[in-house]
Amino acid sequence: MHTPMPLLPRTPNVAVVGATGAVGREMLRVLEDRAFPIGRLRLFASARSAGADLPFCGTRVPVVALPAEPDRAVFEDTDLVLLAVSADLSRTLVPLARSAGAVVVDNSSAFRQDPACPLVIPEVNGAVLDALAGPAIIANPNCSTIIALVAVTPIHRAAGIERMVVSTYQAVSGAGAEAMAELESQARDFAAGRAITPQVFRTQCLFNVFSHDSTIGPDGLNEEERKLLLETRRIWDDPAVRIAATCVRVPVLRAHSEAINLTLRRPMLADEARDLLARSPGVRVVDDRAQNRFPEPIHASGADDVLVGRVREDRSQPHGLGLDLFVSGDQLRKGAALNAVQIAEWLAAGGQAAGDQDAGGTEAATTAATPPSARRAAAR
Ligand SMILES: NC(=O)c1ccc[n+]([C@@H]2O[C@H](COP(=O)([O-])OP(=O)(O)OC[C@H]3O[C@@H](n4cnc5c(N)ncnc54)[C@H](OP(=O)(O)O)[C@@H]3O)[C@@H](O)[C@H]2O)c1
Repeated sequence: MHTPMPLLPRTPNVAVVGATGAVGREMLRVLEDRAFPIGRLRLFASARSAGADLPFCGTRVPVVALPAEPDRAVFEDTDLVLLAVSADLSRTLVPLARSAGAVVVDNSSAFRQDPACPLVIPEVNGAVLDALAGPAIIANPNCSTIIALVAVTPIHRAAGIERMVVSTYQAVSGAGAEAMAELESQARDFAAGRAITPQVFRTQCLFNVFSHDSTIGPDGLNEEERKLLLETRRIWDDPAVRIAATCVRVPVLRAHSEAINLTLRRPMLADEARDLLARSPGVRVVDDRAQNRFPEPIHASGADDVLVGRVREDRSQPHGLGLDLFVSGDQLRKGAALNAVQIAEWLAAGGQAAGDQDAGGTEAATTAATPPSARRAAAR
């Protein structure tokens, strides 16, 4: 059997670029929570953050301002670069990191459709990492795609998904730290009776629901909807799968939710799907019809698992060929930082990391609804 060589040393020198942002800060929490072994950690952000420092493993790490015209010296002696910046900045930095010999995991959309850069969700297609050699660039998929595919890929493997209709309910923090601060400040303004003035979004986000804030193409799809389509096809290596998406923002601080309707090639009933999901890595079934308790973003916030519930047959389709689900997943964590760190763990281990084979199981009806870590995360 072919055993891949680890692409990273046992204690890699790590750089997090965009460390002060919503994803970057979560990256530090995930690295710390998972005790990811690090030789030397360097944090980069813009000149706005010069002089700042961020907490990590009981100490504070200084944030270095990235030069206006960075060169490869920035990544000298760095094994792993975790990028959490805009797509434009990623396009500038990736060639520099590559020429310095570093492995890059990029959270932006810049390289997601580049055939030379694998687009990876470890629970779904992590095995493609085993074929990599040298200073590889790995693209982290879009957050809505990750959350949907962690939930539905086990069903796809067992019954073949022919068509998927996704309606998203996306948290404001998907648009970054400033957007999260905007919802908080609008709540304070409302409580104080002050006028609400949108700045990050084009419209008020408090008490409102609006179409996703990305560009709309000539076909009427916004960028988020297009990413769900193109990235799912690439990750499943299935250019025929049909996907219809409607992506919307809701006034939630963090964790995206998605209503998903599936058309299957082979029949699968709801009970079978629920049992399968309870055994699937990265998934926690929350499906308590008696208590009307199902996935909620506030319970997904800060959690590693994608919560899946409302599992039911879609009786508008031929018997057994239609399923409905509702999922909530923390898009800063599994939708970005955690997925990136899991990729790094896979590369460091030279194969799948043991913890990532664990299924979240089915949440007992008696389990406290919100674990303390989720309550802390929801408030951050
Ligand atoms: N938010 C999500 O849920 C999510 C999920 C998946 C993927 N992503 C992707 O992840 C990336 C980061 O998103 P985010 O939400 O974390 O954004 P964010 O909160 O706005 O953070 C952006 C980060 O980039 C830094 N930055 C900006 N300009 C820079 C420059 N010229 N040089 C160096 N650093 C610079 C910022 O530093 P300062 O603080 O100094 O300005 C900050 O650390 C984006 O590509 C986004 O599409 C986001």
